Amino acid sequence: MANNEEEMVVTPWEVSGKVDYERLIKEFGTQPLTDALIKRIEKVAGYQHLQLRRKIFFSHRDLDVLLDLYDKGEKFVLYTGRGPSSHTHLGHIMSWIFTKYLQDAFKVKLYFQLTDDEKFLHIRDLTLDDARDYAYDNALDVIAMGFQQGKTKLIVDTKNIALLYELALRVAKLTTFSTARAVFGFKEESNIGIIFYTAVQSAPCFLESVITGKKVPCLIPAGIDQDPHWRVARDAATRLGYYKPAQMHCKFMPSLQQSGKMSASIPETAIYLTDTPKEAKKKIMNAFTGGRPTIAEQRKFGGNPDICPVHQYFYFLFEEDDKKMEELNSTCRRGEILCGECKELLAERVGKFLLNHQRKRKQARNVLQKYLLK
Ligand code: TRP
Repeated sequence: MANNEEEMVVTPWEVSGKVDYERLIKEFGTQPLTDALIKRIEKVAGYQHLQLRRKIFFSHRDLDVLLDLYDKGEKFVLYTGRGPSSHTHLGHIMSWIFTKYLQDAFKVKLYFQLTDDEKFLHIRDLTLDDARDYAYDNALDVIAMGFQQGKTKLIVDTKNIALLYELALRVAKLTTFSTARAVFGFKEESNIGIIFYTAVQSAPCFLESVITGKKVPCLIPAGIDQDPHWRVARDAATRLGYYKPAQMHCKFMPSLQQSGKMSASIPETAIYLTDTPKEAKKKIMNAFTGGRPTIAEQRKFGGNPDICPVHQYFYFLFEEDDKKMEELNSTCRRGEILCGECKELLAERVGKFLLNHQRKRKQARNVLQKYLLK
C-alpha cells in the first residue's frame, strides 16, 4: 500500500506516493488555475462552485483560449469519462459533479466515455464481458448525477467503436511509439492494445467536430492523472485541423487509509455508490485519521486535520459551508472533537448522500437508452 515516503507516481494507470500538485503543474507543463479564470466561470454560472473556491480543480490547459472563443459566441462541448473496472466510488464522482456545474452554466453538450476496452486491456483478470457490464452499471451513476438528457451522450467504447475508429486511426498514425512510451511509461511487456488505446481516448475530443462538420472546441474536466492522454490528443489536434482540447485538472480524493487516491482495487478504502449506509459507516469508522492514540492526548495536543482523510472528505464533498469547515478544522486542532465524533458526523452525511443517490440510480434505468450514444 502506498505511503508518504514513497516516490510520487502519477500516470493514467497508477497514482501512488504523496502527490505534490505544484510539482505536477511543473512536470506536466500545465497552467495553475488562476482567480481571474475562476471569476470568468463564476460570471457565467452565477456562483463559484465549491471545487473552484477550494481549488480542488487547480490546473488547466487552454481554458483561457476556450473562454475567449465562448465569449465570441463559439460553443464548446464537454468531454469526460470513466474506466469501468468496478462499481463507481466517491472519488470518481467529484469531477462529474463539477462537470454538471459546467454543463448547467454553459448549457453545452457532454460526451461521457466509458472505456471498457481500456480496463479489459489493463486489468489482467477482468474479462471483456465484465468490463462492459460495469460500463452499463456505471452509466447509471453518471445519469444519476443529473446530466441533461438530450445534451449528454454516453459512449461505451466496445459498442460505439465504429464512431470513434476513424478518429482514433488518424490520431494513432500521428503518434509514434517513442512518444507514447515517453508519455505513459510503457514497458517491453505492455500489451499492444494499451499502446493503441490512447488514440481511442483522444477520439471523443474531436467527435463533435466530425459530427457537425466544423471545428468545435472541447473542454475536458478530469483528474490530472489523465493528462498524458491529452498531450497526445493536443499534438495530433493541430495537424488534424481541430482545436487543441482544453483541460481542467482536479486533485484526487484521498483513500480512507493513510495516503494515495481512493482506489477501486482496495475495496475497504473506498466508498462505493452501491454501498449501504451501514457498509459505508463501517469503512469510515475504520479509517485512518489525524488523531492521537489516546483520548487524553487528543484533548491535550489536538489532532492534525491536514493529514486526515476524514477531514478531507468533508472538504472535498460533504461540508460545503466554509465557516463550518473552518470550525471543524479548529475544534480538531484544539482537541475539542474526537475522531469518533467526526467519523459519526461524516458517516451520517455519506449515508444520506448514498440513499439519495441510490434512489436516482434506480430511476436512471428507465432513461438509460436515451443517454446512450446511437
Ligand atoms: N481513462 C479514464 C479512466 O481510466 C477513462 C476516460 C476516458 C476519461 N475518457 C476520459 C476520464 C476523459 C476523463 C476524461 O478512468
